[in-house]
Amino acid sequence: MHALDTEQSVAVIGAGAMGAGIAQVAASAGHPVMIYDTAAGAAQAGIASIAKGLERQVARGKMDSAQRDAILARLSPVSDLQDLTPARLVIEAIVENLAVKQQVLAQVEAICGVDCILASNTSSISITSIAAGLTRPQNLAGLHFFNPAPVMKLVEVVAGLDTDPAIADCLLATARGWGKQAVLAKSTPGFIVNRLARPFYAEGLRLLEEGAADSATLDALMRDAGGFPMGPFELMDLIGHDVNYAVTRSVFDAYYGDDRFLPSLTQQALVEGGRLGRKSGRGFYDYRDGAAPAEP
Ligand code: NAI
Repeated sequence: MHALDTEQSVAVIGAGAMGAGIAQVAASAGHPVMIYDTAAGAAQAGIASIAKGLERQVARGKMDSAQRDAILARLSPVSDLQDLTPARLVIEAIVENLAVKQQVLAQVEAICGVDCILASNTSSISITSIAAGLTRPQNLAGLHFFNPAPVMKLVEVVAGLDTDPAIADCLLATARGWGKQAVLAKSTPGFIVNRLARPFYAEGLRLLEEGAADSATLDALMRDAGGFPMGPFELMDLIGHDVNYAVTRSVFDAYYGDDRFLPSLTQQALVEGGRLGRKSGRGFYDYRDGAAPAEP
């Protein structure tokens, strides 16, 4: 199956960090993009954050204002799931929770056409298990972007047990058409990157809990001496501790409680305290009142 044509509509459900970024990628490629979120004003806020990012690119001379306006004109917030009927591809980027994802996607498949492709941006939940809640499980695949979606090149297309190979092919071709490096992954716990990245976070957290050094020192060592673009703590702050903790729990559960993936009590406490990282203003670092470390 070929890539989607750019005149075909894309819908993004969830207008948080990832949903807004994915909407920007699809609109930049030329698609009309609808954005839906259950939180009041979130879709509009997502579009405003895209506009802010595009404005920065115009200011830096990386884009002209006509291109910015064209991208923004392709984005529309919608307030009712029913409005997603014309979508040819629906990508969900909502909370990392199996039951909620199943429920929303089941609603979507009742609204959209039989050939509508359903995609989940889940970081770690089995595509096979999300699909098990659908009447057309063959239409669902993972389409896993990385944060921030407009910048990060890699996209994992994740095929579950029931995923139609033609749908996976279409998503691979579409993501490549959007300028991404798309790879096919199986629906194994954490897929490829989140599985490989678990020890990076887990060992960082263990070193911190053992008092080896503070988070800023460990981040600086990995970044400045280790050659990593970001250390584990600033990266977890960027991802969001709610998301990162949910991913660790999901991989831990999927491997029957294997100690290698044991979730950290330090991170659990951050989630309980609402210290979710950049998005809530505090995580390992304090981002309030302009106290944020420089953008990575
Ligand atoms: P976020 O917390 O920034 O945004 C989630 C958005 O979904 C919120 O605006 C919320 O109001 C909305 N939402 C929640 N339930 C909804 C529902 N039932 N219907 C419609 N909207 C709903 O989360 P973020 O970071 O954007 O993550 C979203 C998904 O993307 C998760 O599955 C996460 O695992 C995945 N992901 C996250 C990455 C990250 O670095 N944060 C990277 C790659 C994937």
